[in-house]
Amino acid sequence: MFTINDNFTLLPSSYLFSEVAARIKAYSESHPDAEIIRMGIGDVTRPLCPAVIDALHKAVDDESAMDTFHGYGPEQGYEFLASKIAAHDYRDRGIDIGEDEIFISDGAKSDTGNIGDILSTANRIAVTDPVYPVYVDTNVMAGRGGHLLPDGHWSKIEYLPCTQENGFVPDLPATAPDIIYLCYPNNPTGTVLDRAALTMWVEYCRKNGCLLLFDAAYEAFVRTPGIPRSIYEIDGAREVAIEFRSFSKTAGFTGIRLGYTVVPKELKGLDNNGNMVRLNPLWRRRQTTKFNGASYITQRGAEALYTPDGQSQSRETVDYYLGNAAVMLDGLRHAGYSCVGGTDSPYIWLKAADGMSSWEFFDHLLDRYHIVGTPGSGFGPAGEGYFRLTAFNTRENTIKAIERLKS
Ligand code: MLT
Repeated sequence: MFTINDNFTLLPSSYLFSEVAARIKAYSESHPDAEIIRMGIGDVTRPLCPAVIDALHKAVDDESAMDTFHGYGPEQGYEFLASKIAAHDYRDRGIDIGEDEIFISDGAKSDTGNIGDILSTANRIAVTDPVYPVYVDTNVMAGRGGHLLPDGHWSKIEYLPCTQENGFVPDLPATAPDIIYLCYPNNPTGTVLDRAALTMWVEYCRKNGCLLLFDAAYEAFVRTPGIPRSIYEIDGAREVAIEFRSFSKTAGFTGIRLGYTVVPKELKGLDNNGNMVRLNPLWRRRQTTKFNGASYITQRGAEALYTPDGQSQSRETVDYYLGNAAVMLDGLRHAGYSCVGGTDSPYIWLKAADGMSSWEFFDHLLDRYHIVGTPGSGFGPAGEGYFRLTAFNTRENTIKAIERLKS
């Protein structure tokens, strides 16, 4: 009889956002008249911008004619998009990234989950607490988690608490892990790290031979001058860091799916014989084998984001969400909540009212105000007693939600 990957049986039965969705569905069925405002999963509400829509239509037409039709594309993405990414997202900002270091994919969630394929299961990982659950769950699936402890931590993972006491900024690890995940602007707390803090992490990784997996999915929300938008703004990062980026929140691609991962050529890890091996060809090998490339149509849509119209339209969308976040921060603070995030990020992290647990507060907000958020404890034990709200709803619903909370 065949056997299964037992690691899957170690995981809680459902993924955080699936659990939240199931609870909303149950509540809506039993309260059909409730006008629920969703500020839970970070899904966007604004439509794709006109420049992208035009490019998508044109790409669909390309597929209708023999001489412009595209079947399988390059697994790591089309050159027309990779060259724009390298130029606009990096070289124009003084960062040296080549097209052959960019791997276009169907999103940062898949890539942050899949990257473990090219890394030994013996590596010890460190994550912030709270943390985007994909990093932890995918490492548990691969056998790097150990077992779930009564306090909600996994035995083999080092957790770097981000609490009110340390201003939600993680300290350096105590146990020299092999791989460190950082996400900045942070999901879920919405906080950012400045240049000095990121420099400290890059130097730590260089000194200790650690790989830094840097999730920059929310970089487009950075507005504070001096806050880095890429880990490669930090000297030496090319030797230690992989960066993940997403078009989901920047340009509304949560449904059509597109992201990319940067694996610099300098980045090397040890093999079993003690040889230093480049990660770039390993990731290429992984992607060409297991992934057939993001669709031609979607990549043409993303290419339009790098035109002047695409740039200004997508910036306007991000500004709209940041405007929502400002409304939320103001309203929540007036209502007496203690919050962080929301200035360079679409996420606001707040302390649950009246000492409630995260899930108690979830039920309270849903039942009393018909507002959905995400319980902080779903992001890790240090999130207990906290709650995440997103700024991705419409302005109208955002104002309505805040008015409900203030009442
Ligand atoms: C979130 O709500 O944390 C994100 O939308 C999840 C994701 O991007 O996969």
